[in-house]
Amino acid sequence: MSSKPAVAPVRLFFALWPDEGVRAQLAHWIRELHAMCGGRPTRTENLHVTLAFLGSVEGARVAEVERAAGEVAPHAATLVLDRPGYWKHNRIAWAGASAVPRELDALVAELRGALARSNIGFDAKGFASHVTLLRDAREPKAMPPLEPVKWMLDGFSLVRSLTLPRGSRYEVLKSWRA
Ligand code: 2AM
Repeated sequence: MSSKPAVAPVRLFFALWPDEGVRAQLAHWIRELHAMCGGRPTRTENLHVTLAFLGSVEGARVAEVERAAGEVAPHAATLVLDRPGYWKHNRIAWAGASAVPRELDALVAELRGALARSNIGFDAKGFASHVTLLRDAREPKAMPPLEPVKWMLDGFSLVRSLTLPRGSRYEVLKSWRA
């Protein structure tokens, strides 16, 4: 009788992963907002938009997660982050878009549909397109004017979250391109 080697569970989520240019522009937003709201800035290498949060997944099921994502056909689109925002309930300051491209809404629906068909669990909370910039931030009196960030979307990524003593580190495991 053969038995499969035990593979430790991993913490996973699907995300839009920015390139260096977008990261640099968002780092500027972080500096401006941090001056007003304080809080803990997201490390620039961790900046992203979460599409679906899976949480802990058995190591042996990661291949199934990748197979489900392979059913999705992402389309190129432009996401313009032009709206800084603040959520009181979790003290997060974020970057958002006043108009979410329909290709992005379609991508989220397709991805979540593929996960559901494969019985892969995820946080069913509705998609709120945003990039978390600061945690434990104070509510600002007003948002500073910020230069819109144009992000050319060309696919999505499966990301592993590692909890280290110095905070979370995210590792892109695989990407699917438009
Ligand atoms: P946040 O940026 O708004 O905090 C990794 O934890 C990413 O998944 C974060 O971007 C986090 O969102 C997002 N996320 C979505 N749902 C989550 C959940 N139930 N628990 C933890 N993170 C979640």
